[in-house]
Amino acid sequence: MKILVTSALPYANGNIHLGHLAGAYLPADIYVRYQRLKNRDVIYMCGTDEHGVPVTISAEKQNKTPKEIVDNYYKSIKKSFGDFGMTFDNFSRTTLSIHHRMAQDFFQKIYNKGYIYPKEIEQFYCPRCKRFLPDRYIIGKCPRCAADGAKGDQCESCGRWLEPFELVEPKCLICEGIPQKIKTKHWYFKLSAFQDKLSDWIEKKTDWKEHVLGFVKGWLKEGLRDRPITRDMSWGVPVPLEQAKGKVLYVWFDAPIGYISSTIEWSEKKGKPDLWKDYWLSKETKLVHFIGKDNIVFHALIWPAMLMAYGDYVLPSDIPANQFLNLEGDKFSTSKNYAIWLPDYLKDFQADSLRYTLTRNAPEARDTDFTWRDFQAWHNNELADTLGNFINRTLTFINKYYNSSAPKASSFADNDKRMLDILSKAPAIIGEKIEHFEFKNGLQEVMKIVQEANRYFDKEKPWATRMTDPSTCEKTLNVCMKIVTSLSVLIEPFLPFTADKVKKMINFIPQDWDGISEPKLASTIGKPEILFQKIDNDTIDIQIKKLKKTDITIEEFRKIVLKTAKILKAEVVQGSKNLIKCIVEIGDEKRQIVAGIGKDYKPDELVGKTIVIIENLQPAKIRGVLSRGMLLAADTKEGIILLTPDKPVSSGAIIK
Ligand code: MF3
Ligand code: ZN
Repeated sequence: MKILVTSALPYANGNIHLGHLAGAYLPADIYVRYQRLKNRDVIYMCGTDEHGVPVTISAEKQNKTPKEIVDNYYKSIKKSFGDFGMTFDNFSRTTLSIHHRMAQDFFQKIYNKGYIYPKEIEQFYCPRCKRFLPDRYIIGKCPRCAADGAKGDQCESCGRWLEPFELVEPKCLICEGIPQKIKTKHWYFKLSAFQDKLSDWIEKKTDWKEHVLGFVKGWLKEGLRDRPITRDMSWGVPVPLEQAKGKVLYVWFDAPIGYISSTIEWSEKKGKPDLWKDYWLSKETKLVHFIGKDNIVFHALIWPAMLMAYGDYVLPSDIPANQFLNLEGDKFSTSKNYAIWLPDYLKDFQADSLRYTLTRNAPEARDTDFTWRDFQAWHNNELADTLGNFINRTLTFINKYYNSSAPKASSFADNDKRMLDILSKAPAIIGEKIEHFEFKNGLQEVMKIVQEANRYFDKEKPWATRMTDPSTCEKTLNVCMKIVTSLSVLIEPFLPFTADKVKKMINFIPQDWDGISEPKLASTIGKPEILFQKIDNDTIDIQIKKLKKTDITIEEFRKIVLKTAKILKAEVVQGSKNLIKCIVEIGDEKRQIVAGIGKDYKPDELVGKTIVIIENLQPAKIRGVLSRGMLLAADTKEGIILLTPDKPVSSGAIIK
């Protein structure tokens, strides 16, 4: 059997953030790495989605051409995916000519079969910008939840998919002008013709994730409507019809075809130009699409209908869509820059810590929340203190007392047998979870082994038996070394960089997923190195501060009262190095505030200065000392620098 895995093609209009990773990418990579360790015939296809309104809007906003945008983000997305340990067999782009040809061929063939027809319709047009306003070029109020800023294809607040004419008070995104409706011709895909076929097909997918089926059945129940698959734009795949000059294919029509073009590109690079057909044209292929939940309707209904219309290709066998990952309690928002971007993350931390956190907390069945505190706690307690610790204590012991050569053992006591039994069952148990897309549970099974292993080490006390009962000590270390060897494979899908490091340290003899149930040990091991350095609070505090929460409105800002204040008295808070208690004068009023500026200012220097404070902050106790207000200061590498007025000013002046 062949397995063909894909992850949603990310738009080449921005970097990848943690929400994307948790949804469509990391789970797929775990799945594929596992299948490879099982020696299965698996390929993993992806690439960037380089057409469509998301790209042209970014280009306009950044004053660049769409080509410049996609070239730039193709490169940076590909690079950061690589640094995160993603192992695509091919990472393509939908602007390649091979893809344009494939998409046009697809259109042409289903057009010839009668599944595409033209229709004269009205569409929004901006007279000021002199252009049509497809999809996200039109914004307005959501007809369902009334949120502002709903887009012509979707409201991000409530998730509803929209048609442009449904928007209340529609506006042009670019100039905010009022659009007109004018007539244009578009080509429609006869989705309605596939209602029954799709229903029958979905009916058999009883093992799909519940929330995916729920979504799909909801759509089927509403009744499928034909959808326009052309757009009045110049950026995209030209519609291959004489009568459609100047129009391009809708991005959601061409993008999924990118899965096929990427496979063709892969075949060509391998020098076997027909190899892709073994995967796409065989009914035996298991085609698995990893996506986020916002892509379900396209992958589970429209794309299968397109494939049915075309006729030759295999249909998806599973679509294990994930729910959303939130960030510190709020939705990720690219437009508000509320996100953790992968390239930024990778500047400060190792990839495996994130792979661990995102899997441990994967939004497999419901939305979950990423917090920096969880990240820190799991890295420190579970990766460093549990996994890293077990591997390190075992290898260090063998290095120190057995001259880097794991002791041999032929007979085992019950306690040892129990551990070896756990190892022999582990590949099947963990494998079963991964095959059912339960990556969180799979990882948990791995960590259970590590916990057992630490307990075993503690109980066997090799540091004591080494003196009192050397043969027992040898058995213990033999078992521990087997555990480390097994783990180096079992963690690989989840923590590939760590797996590589461990394999190097133990001079790993190649063994596959099933083989590792009875691990073979190398005759000598190398030098152990620390796998995970602890992450301290300051490092995490910096990350939390970097997160820009959603923008505030001018009304919200107006609530903040800023005033000038003169420092009358200042002293260090007892028992603290950094906190200074000041008495300030704000016009007629005197009050006490506490500020963490003691590293950079001595109390004497402060007295007499006029500073800026937030006057209407709720009073708070800091280290038991009352503070009524907060002063403003720049937080720089060189330290804290207080903000003071440019010219002398009396205290109590309002700042606007
Ligand atoms: N670019 C789309 C998104 O980021 C996903 C496209 S998936 C594909 O939401 F199947 F169309 F390629
Ligand atoms: Zn306009």
